[in-house]
Amino acid sequence: MNRQLHLNLFIHGRGHHEAAWRHPAASARSLTDIRYYTDLAVQAEAGLFDSVFLADSLALGEDVAHAPRAWLEPVTVLGALAAATRRIGLIATCSSTYTEPYNLARQFATLDHISDGRIGWNIVTSWLAAAAGNYGGGGQLGHAERYARAEEYMKVVTGLWDSWSDDAVQDDRAGGHYARPDGIRPVNHAGPYYQVAGPLNLPRSPQGRPVFVQAGSSETGRRFAARHAEAVFTAQMEKATAKDFYADLKRLVVEEGRDPGQVVVLPGLSPVIGATEAEAQRIARELNELSDPEVGRQRLSGRFGGHDFSHLPLDRVLTAEDFPDPGTVEAARSRTEVIIGLVRREKPTLRQLLGYLAGARGHFVTAGTPEQIATLIEDWFHDGAADGFNVMPPVLPSMLEVFVAEVVPLLQRRGVFRTGYGGDTLRAHFGLTRPDVRF
Ligand SMILES: Cc1cc2nc3c(=O)[nH]c(=O)nc-3n(C[C@H](O)[C@H](O)[C@H](O)COP(=O)(O)O)c2cc1C
Repeated sequence: MNRQLHLNLFIHGRGHHEAAWRHPAASARSLTDIRYYTDLAVQAEAGLFDSVFLADSLALGEDVAHAPRAWLEPVTVLGALAAATRRIGLIATCSSTYTEPYNLARQFATLDHISDGRIGWNIVTSWLAAAAGNYGGGGQLGHAERYARAEEYMKVVTGLWDSWSDDAVQDDRAGGHYARPDGIRPVNHAGPYYQVAGPLNLPRSPQGRPVFVQAGSSETGRRFAARHAEAVFTAQMEKATAKDFYADLKRLVVEEGRDPGQVVVLPGLSPVIGATEAEAQRIARELNELSDPEVGRQRLSGRFGGHDFSHLPLDRVLTAEDFPDPGTVEAARSRTEVIIGLVRREKPTLRQLLGYLAGARGHFVTAGTPEQIATLIEDWFHDGAADGFNVMPPVLPSMLEVFVAEVVPLLQRRGVFRTGYGGDTLRAHFGLTRPDVRF
């Protein structure tokens, strides 16, 4: 069978462009209306997407006066999406730094039961400095410690999801036996960060455990992904760096003794689609004209752990010296490397840089016809830059509608994308095996 392209829909605000929420083509629904999310998931399912994904951060963004920084909590939303859909995978973000492992294990196993095996967990260590203020008020944990905790966290939650054998439940009403005692065992984890007895108070779920998704691209982040991730999101601003990331991650996966075919790499892609290239460019310009550089400047500061960029004039050409060294950034390290890489390569002014980041926060932005978008997708897919894409429509739902109606049929006709769901679980969609119980 031909290698299958994978498509994930990244639902974010009213679209990934910073000014999308103000665009006339954006949804009129409020961001706290669950139908906004169920409509998008149903549409992505109609387009035979592998999955939909909800990001999360654990503090209110400072620029809420000028940007829609409020949304429904993802794990809860997944319950509603599971009820509104049948086949599409459902991925939610949850923090390994600020969530008790026993709670997370219960929530994701429950969702996997509710959805008949369609759940994924985007494992984040929570780079946003402000989140620390909502969880005990101490300062932000350093980059290295966040990942060290996450390593132990993975041991605990995987142990909990493995604390019931697949055949532990007997449900023998006549004989009065609900579960085989030898099919359930404690975890008894005692480590530097966590003490968890277990077992989980829930039978093993259809997929065994949620699909592990991850999106850290720093050196430490890649190692973590190579050990644990089954799907990896990444922000790449050009094909060359996407190819480097892809090759390096697959190499690290092999080094960790894993099958590289069991890790799908999904770079972000934010396509502005028009009937003609000129029309697509016009829509892209319209969106950029709607965005506010001061919102962009505040967001840039957040990416660099609160670094103050207020002194920088908007129309002076930037140099790397205008930015802190990424190695000193405790926030989202790899994203700062992507941004400084762009400054070195393109020598933009601050206004130009903020205009580019307004598109999709450092992910690949392109404007073109459905044919051009399909050709770009095929090119990265066949040329070792991607196993699929994290589709980030600049405006929702309009740019998802045109992607499903125009780009998906082209990809199907070119034989790279499914024409029907082959399986019922997210693991089946991604071509991943079901993990055996390590009992
Ligand atoms: C597509 C994508 C989605 C992400 N979603 C979230 C999220 O929902 N919450 C979060 O705190 N971080 C999110 N991140 C950030 C990553 O989890 C990670 O913190 C960041 O990429 C920096 O990792 P690094 O320091 O290892 O480079 C996302 C990153 C990408 C590329």
